[in-house]
Amino acid sequence: MSEGNLAISAQGLVKRFGERRVVDGVDLAVPRGAIYGVLGPNGAGKTTTLRMLLGIIDPDEGRRAVFGLDAPRDASDRIGYLPEERGLYPAMKAREAIAFMGALRGLDWKTGRVRAAEMMEAAGLGHAIDQKIRKLSKGMAQLVQLLGSVVHRPDLLVLDEPFSGLDPVNQEKLEALILAERDRGATILFSTHIMAHAERICDRLAIIASGKRRFEGTVDEARATLPQQVRYTPAHPGIDLATLLPADAESDGRAWRFQLPPQGIEPLLVTLIERGHGIAGLSIERPGLHDAFVRIVGQAAAGNVTHAEPAGAFA
Ligand SMILES: Nc1ncnc2c1ncn2[C@@H]1O[C@H](COP(=O)(O)OP(=O)(O)OP(=O)(O)O)[C@@H](O)[C@H]1O
Ligand SMILES: [Mg+2]
Repeated sequence: MSEGNLAISAQGLVKRFGERRVVDGVDLAVPRGAIYGVLGPNGAGKTTTLRMLLGIIDPDEGRRAVFGLDAPRDASDRIGYLPEERGLYPAMKAREAIAFMGALRGLDWKTGRVRAAEMMEAAGLGHAIDQKIRKLSKGMAQLVQLLGSVVHRPDLLVLDEPFSGLDPVNQEKLEALILAERDRGATILFSTHIMAHAERICDRLAIIASGKRRFEGTVDEARATLPQQVRYTPAHPGIDLATLLPADAESDGRAWRFQLPPQGIEPLLVTLIERGHGIAGLSIERPGLHDAFVRIVGQAAAGNVTHAEPAGAFA
C-alpha cells in the first residue's frame, strides 16, 4: 500500500529505557479509514509505541509518519487521543471538560459546548452534562474523556486501552462509537487486552510481545495461525476411539475433540462409519482470536528468554 493511503506508517521503531529495548524494531502500516488494533500482554510496549506514533516521545531509532508528516505533532489538530492514564480537571463540568479538550485541538468553544451536549445525550449521559467531573463514576468520567477526544472530529483517533474500566453495557457503547467514528471517515488505532472487542471490530491488528511485532494481519488471518478443531460425537458414546482418532484426541465422555487432520475429515469419517461408530454430532471450528493471541505471545516468550516479564503471565 502506498504511503498516501496510510494514516500511520512506522518502520523500525526502537525505544530504549536504560539498557532495555522496550520497543525493538516495530513496523506499522495503518490504512486510512481502518479500525486497527494493537494487542499484546502487559509490558509489551503498546503504550510506548502509541506515544511514539503521536510524537509524545521520540523514537531512539526508526521513523514514523502520521498522514505523511514526519513530525506527528504537526497533525495534532487532526488527532484525538485517549491516554492510558485518564485525567480530567475534577472541578470542571462534564460539558466544559469536553469543550476544553476540543479547544486544545483547535475547536472553538461554542461549537465544542454544543457538540458536547449532543454527544452526551446520545451516549445516555444527558443527566450528567452539568455535573462536575469529580462527581462522576470512574467509567462515566472515562466516557466523558472519550467524547472529549472525538469532539473536534479527528481524522485519526488513538485510544489506549479504551475498554478497560467500562462495564459491559458501556463497552458496547464504546464499540458503537468506534464504528460510528469509522463510518464518519476516521481512522482508529486502539490498544486492548480484551480479545472479544478486537475480534468484532478490527479490520487489521498487530500483536506485540516483548517489544517486537509478532503478527500483523486481519482477525481471520490471526485465527488461521491455529489449526481448526473438530468436535465429533459418535452415535454410541462410551467406546474408546483413541486408536482410530488423531493422537491429540480427547473425550469428555460423549464428544471427542481433536485438530483437523492435514488430509481433512472425510477419510476419518469413512473409517468411523465403516466401523459402525456413526455420527451423532460433528462440527469443525476455527479457534478464536483469544487462542491465537495466547499461542503467538507464548511462542514469542518461548523464543525470547531475555524478556521474561510478559512470559510469566502467558506461558
Ligand atoms: N518512562 C519509562 N521509563 C522506564 N521504563 C518504562 C517507561 N515507560 C514504560 N517503561 C517500561 O517499558 C515496558 C513497556 O511499557 P508499556 O507501557 O509500553 O507497555 P504496555 O504494552 O502498554 O503494557 P500494559 O498492557 O500494561 O499497558 C514496560 O516494561 C515498562 O515498565
Ligand atoms: Mg499500556
